[in-house]
Amino acid sequence: LASIEVDISKIESGMGIKTSWRKQPVFIRNLTPAEVASANKVPASSLRDPQTLAERTKEGKQNWLVQLGVCTHLGCIPLGIGEGENKGPFNGYFCPCHGSAYDEAGRIRQGPAPKNLVVPDYAFKSDTVIQIG
Ligand code: FES
Repeated sequence: LASIEVDISKIESGMGIKTSWRKQPVFIRNLTPAEVASANKVPASSLRDPQTLAERTKEGKQNWLVQLGVCTHLGCIPLGIGEGENKGPFNGYFCPCHGSAYDEAGRIRQGPAPKNLVVPDYAFKSDTVIQIG
């Protein structure tokens, strides 16, 4: 199905946007170096859905997080960068429907959601353009 290209050149460190792809919200976030370091400090084995930041991002571009803005519990749109400022207790995303909290890498840390936010298929076309799908 249709893929989209997104210009990320204006997304500064610590900022992010919401776009949409296949009628689903997609959050794109440019993590700060401190957020990358914080995400990498967490042992993946301690997580409900064990994944490292490296497994959720592209090589050499660990600061760029691309994920569906769809809670893996029952599908609400979580709050966080791209959808307001409430990043929840783990500096990531907070789902107001039933209280799932995700960390800065989009990994589930608290609440009923079983899985991390989904990373769609995407690729860097250049340093400033991402193709999703
Ligand atoms: Fe997000 Fe239930 S839909 S916590």
